[in-house]
Amino acid sequence: MLAHLLARHGIDSVVLESRSRDYVGQRVRAGVLEQGTVDLLTASGVGERMQREGLVHHGIELRFEGQGHRIPLTELTGGRSITVYGQQEVVKDLIQARLGAGGALLFEADALGVDEIDSDRPRVHYRQANQTHTLESDFVAGCDGFWGVSRHAVPAGVLNVYEKEYPFAWLGVLAATPPASDELIYASHDRGFALLSMRSPEISRLYLQCRPDEPLDDWSDERIWRELQARFATDAGFTLHPGAMLEKSVTTMRSFVVEPMQYGRLFLAGDAAHIVPPTGAKGMNLAIADVRVLADALAHWYATGRSDLLDAYSATCLRRVWRAEHFSWWMTSMLHRFPDDDGGFQYRLQLSQLRYVTTSHAAATSLAENYVGLEKV
Ligand code: PHB
Repeated sequence: MLAHLLARHGIDSVVLESRSRDYVGQRVRAGVLEQGTVDLLTASGVGERMQREGLVHHGIELRFEGQGHRIPLTELTGGRSITVYGQQEVVKDLIQARLGAGGALLFEADALGVDEIDSDRPRVHYRQANQTHTLESDFVAGCDGFWGVSRHAVPAGVLNVYEKEYPFAWLGVLAATPPASDELIYASHDRGFALLSMRSPEISRLYLQCRPDEPLDDWSDERIWRELQARFATDAGFTLHPGAMLEKSVTTMRSFVVEPMQYGRLFLAGDAAHIVPPTGAKGMNLAIADVRVLADALAHWYATGRSDLLDAYSATCLRRVWRAEHFSWWMTSMLHRFPDDDGGFQYRLQLSQLRYVTTSHAAATSLAENYVGLEKV
């Protein structure tokens, strides 16, 4: 996305992708685009397939104590909505746009390290087809995820790390069955959290709270369907229709931020700088918001020679990042069963909060405006 935005300003870049083109086009990841993300993809000319195939949603459901409660997102946010469109589809559209425009996008190019970031010629070392190479450039954008190498190029003592781990994970499945609901369902149940989402009118995406060390082998397809059915059950009756499981994986949950998101000529973006638990559906949206700020700041630097926007990059991004960190932590804390909740005190607080959020216009509006994404943070 950054390369695409830069190209629109006439700025050259080289993208190093460690995986193959096939792999990144198939890997199942996030699926919810905020309004601002949708608007940016559209305005920058890569939104055509998303406009056709993406599913626009105007509400979500919170389900607890056997009842569903709709949060009317669009009504509560003056007309904003979310779009369900898989991250790997966004990735495919961007790859096509970059390659179509003759952009330098290298696959199976493994970044080994970044150095010279406090000079004006930072370098990236990478390996491709068993050969090592060095790239020199004006700037390096570290968009290489939580496990990437770029963050480690910052000298010790510069970055402050803020971190929280959660005592649970999500078991996610992709299933060949039409979604049992038109809108996402976030379910809080005595047995743990569950989420119903989708990728298309034929494909469901479902998640179950599980232990962080949960062996996937313990979860037969049949057990997963039984557990999902139990957690989504309503008094009025709600039935999931099992279908073939196309993918299964366990995702650990973490909140993580480094400050600042920049040192010298290295700018960190997305998961390289911050992680949110998936409950708020913010991860991809934050990454795209970061690179939008960075693309504008770089364009300004190339056009005027002024570094004011680049200097403000970290502070500008971190305001949005911390809002999303709070929202994601709050949604996670409200909806999951905590294994250390002796006696159920916390569960009762959670249910009280859920009743409040689904009956108070003010509380529902707060959830809705964070969920669709805040314009001004
Ligand atoms: C997804 O569809 O993968 C999804 C939806 C909402 C979330 C997290 C993941 O909060």
